[in-house]
Amino acid sequence: MTESLERTGVSRRSFIGGIGITAGGLVVASGPILWQQSAKADTVTAEQVHLTFGEDPTSEVVVSWVTPTSVSNPKVIVGTTADGFGRTIAAETRTYTDSNNGIVTIAQHARVDGLRPGTDYVYRIVSDGETQLSSAFRTAPAGRVPFRFTSVGDIACGDTAFSKASLNAVATAAQVEQFDPVVHLVNGDLSYANSNQMFQPQVWEEYFDNTQLSSANRPWMPTIGNHENEPGNGPQGYLSYQTRFTLPENGSRDFEGNWYKFQVSSVLFVMLDNNDVCYQVDTGTFLSTGDSQILTGYSGGAQERWLEETLREASFDTSVDWIVVVMHQPAMSTSDAEGSDLGIRQHFMPLFYKYGVDFVLAGHDHDYERSFVVHGTDSDTILRPHVVSTDLDKVDSDKGLVHLVIGTGGTAGHDDVYLTDTADDEPEEGINVSGTEIVTEDAPWSAVTDPNTTFPWGLGVFDVDPGRFPGDKTTMTFTYYHTSAWSGSGSFPAPVEFDTFTATRTRSDGFGFRQRDAK
Ligand SMILES: [Fe+2]
Repeated sequence: MTESLERTGVSRRSFIGGIGITAGGLVVASGPILWQQSAKADTVTAEQVHLTFGEDPTSEVVVSWVTPTSVSNPKVIVGTTADGFGRTIAAETRTYTDSNNGIVTIAQHARVDGLRPGTDYVYRIVSDGETQLSSAFRTAPAGRVPFRFTSVGDIACGDTAFSKASLNAVATAAQVEQFDPVVHLVNGDLSYANSNQMFQPQVWEEYFDNTQLSSANRPWMPTIGNHENEPGNGPQGYLSYQTRFTLPENGSRDFEGNWYKFQVSSVLFVMLDNNDVCYQVDTGTFLSTGDSQILTGYSGGAQERWLEETLREASFDTSVDWIVVVMHQPAMSTSDAEGSDLGIRQHFMPLFYKYGVDFVLAGHDHDYERSFVVHGTDSDTILRPHVVSTDLDKVDSDKGLVHLVIGTGGTAGHDDVYLTDTADDEPEEGINVSGTEIVTEDAPWSAVTDPNTTFPWGLGVFDVDPGRFPGDKTTMTFTYYHTSAWSGSGSFPAPVEFDTFTATRTRSDGFGFRQRDAK
């Protein structure tokens, strides 16, 4: 949108204080260090700009950014396109020091409230009396109106100097922007900072400087994946994530930002942290020992209780037609890589069935997989979701939920090898049942996989039609697009449709509605 939105590269950066970085080299830190672009060392630059919705997306947007040094009077000036700039909102400054390399990150957050629904706003980021970036956003529309959202996880930072990154993360950010969603959902595993232990803040910088071409213009709402865990940075290793994001409150004292909800039109989005319930132990490792940080059960059931209360309230809310859960590790995956996790089936899936969740969006496995409509579990199985419909084109969401793995945002590796039971040629899943044991079982719920390694990346696009009158049918059309490999220069290849279906459910504001159907 402006020259400030150009993507920047790690090769143009250096440490202040004479501490250097070489490919594969170590940084020796003797105390807090500031990290900034050498070319801009004499100026203050707003970078890593990203928007999130507040608790009410029709009226609240948070503008977040990082400054390479301390600044005076950081603020956002915002106005409508028609009226120009008008209101000034002071930013809250939050900092943290990376435990591995001592780098200090200075994050700024301006909570803009009192906005009008479905309205275009322009904004300027200002500090030290100078404008550092100008951009624009649109608030969520009010009421039951059509809208689009997008979803993908496992993006990585897009700078191939760092582990797990590929150039396709750049294509992903550009293509999210191209689809022009009201909001983009990130299904966990954002930057992969913890795969680059001595360079975690630098990897985050590359991640946000990449996504900024879209996330400065529309909210990107994140969930926590195993790669958000940076042992040593806060109790759950989430200090970097929590410092860089301002997210809707969840009412907890100790776990703000780890899970939350927000609603756009008739869709309630429920954003969860599966590290809390998973058996899988593939979180970050402590630099000193190499041991993984075990997060299973860290909230003591607080997240599960919040989830049940959130879904129970939604079941009585006649403004909520659709419930979309976003999380990272999948409850259902036939990938040969990570597969399914019993902890999610034990703690979260029963609540999804009970309160009529419609979609569960995950990542973690770097591939695409769609389930049939499922509800409840098959007896004498490892809580295997029970298939209630095998119609691929017309999904009846009044009958159950669809689970989607969309972990194709741009990591260097992909996991699109899927298990098959050679005895009966049925899809098969590996289920992590304890952290150390994987049990395989047939997976008749697996509807669509994408074993096409020519196109290992992609993203999901959802278009919501809210229907016309109380009690009418509402639809959600989903399309998964391949995002072809990008060479690193020139225009991005056009997305190519791979899988699509239309889901239908009954609006919750019909005559006689008392509680959302338990299906
Ligand atoms: Fe993951």
